[in-house]
Amino acid sequence: MAPLPLLLPLPLLGASVSRLLPRLHGRGSAAAAAMSTARTLKSVDYEVFGRVQGVCFRMYAEGEAKKMGVVGWVKNTRQGTVTGQVQGPEDKVNSMKTWLSKVGSPSSRIDRADFSNEKTISELEYTNFSVKY
Ligand SMILES: *[C@@H]1O[C@H](CO)[C@@H](O)[C@H](O)[C@H]1NC(C)=O
Repeated sequence: MAPLPLLLPLPLLGASVSRLLPRLHGRGSAAAAAMSTARTLKSVDYEVFGRVQGVCFRMYAEGEAKKMGVVGWVKNTRQGTVTGQVQGPEDKVNSMKTWLSKVGSPSSRIDRADFSNEKTISELEYTNFSVKY
């Protein structure tokens, strides 16, 4: 039987080894808890208040969501806010909540972000994160 690693392209092998090593070293309950957090899917609705229109907020939100690996949508409201929904692994949804309430696009000014309807879901209702009009 040929050793499996020899069949893998080197860059891929490097990536999988570096991802694997921290897991092998962290089998305590904290690691188990983190992994269970990563498996739990969460959904949350949001509305962001402040200077969030005309500042590429939706475009940056889309880029950030894709980078983090969450799905859902974002749109401008007639009231000058940005609203939408985020779904994904609990820890990634939490990161996106932080981005929506504390970071935003470079020219935006976030006064407040409201989150509602936060719940655990059994499967994602979207295939991607998209801008709605
Ligand atoms: C993104 O998701 C929306 C809504 O779920 C869907 O209508 C659209 O086709 C998707 N786009 C891509 C590129 O998958």
